[in-house]
Amino acid sequence: MAVLIDGKLVSAKVREKIAEEGRCLLQETGVQPGLAVIIVGEDPASQVYVRNKKKACEQVGFYSEEYALPAETTQQELDALLEKLNRDDKIHGILVQLPLPRHLDEKAVIEKIDPAKDVDAFHAFNVGKIMIGDYDYLPCTPAGVMELIHSAGVSVSGKECVVIGRSNIVGKPMAMLLLHENGTVTVCHSRTKDLAEVTRRADILVSAVGRAKFVTADMVKPGAVVIDVGMNRDENGKLCGDVDFAAVEPVASYITPVPGGVGPMTITMLMKNTLTSAQKKAKKA
Ligand code: GUN
Repeated sequence: MAVLIDGKLVSAKVREKIAEEGRCLLQETGVQPGLAVIIVGEDPASQVYVRNKKKACEQVGFYSEEYALPAETTQQELDALLEKLNRDDKIHGILVQLPLPRHLDEKAVIEKIDPAKDVDAFHAFNVGKIMIGDYDYLPCTPAGVMELIHSAGVSVSGKECVVIGRSNIVGKPMAMLLLHENGTVTVCHSRTKDLAEVTRRADILVSAVGRAKFVTADMVKPGAVVIDVGMNRDENGKLCGDVDFAAVEPVASYITPVPGGVGPMTITMLMKNTLTSAQKKAKKA
């Protein structure tokens, strides 16, 4: 029987600390951390994420602005909004919810955000900083995963770590953060030969594939720490992760549930990055 890593609980504790630091910053410098969230189009999953981000801002006492733009928004219109927000002193973090409608150039949009306000840490400048281990912001989901691993009292140093998935948002930065903590890291993807043979080596297994019940019990080493980044719907339309929870839970030592695992941590780390940006700004001003 695995111990459940409770993302909601860990998240609540971290948010309390963030709220406290935000209050201190406001009292001492008059700066209230501010986040702008932009969503283009009407993808229902993205709308839920954006709503949760707004709620989180309210919870920790941050200022927030939401821009719900129509699906037909042009690149020029989005660029103009980003330029305005880059100059806006009330705004310390800018987040453009991905994916964007197909006619928009995602890479160009990310590069338009001032790296100092890039609280997703998606801009090439921030990605490069992470690569060399000299960063201001960590990408929210991988940073949240690291917090969850730490909360369980698990040390990464010297462990075999396997990441399934190589996206820019999760897989690649996840590998880098595990490497920073001296894990021996393998990244698996759709062309990996004998995936189960590789994942069975993992002391720490992180799945970010986006397929329900993808990780089965035979893919998990007994006693492994299993972190599920997936956010999928099962055959009954119920929210579930990448991991076949019922089958894997008896094999693992620690496991994150979906929902209530990595998800709440991602938004908490976004609040943390927004706070960091505001603190840096207040120091410079
Ligand atoms: N879409 C899915 N995850 C994310 C995220 O972490 N940031 C942004 N901007 N969009 C996303």
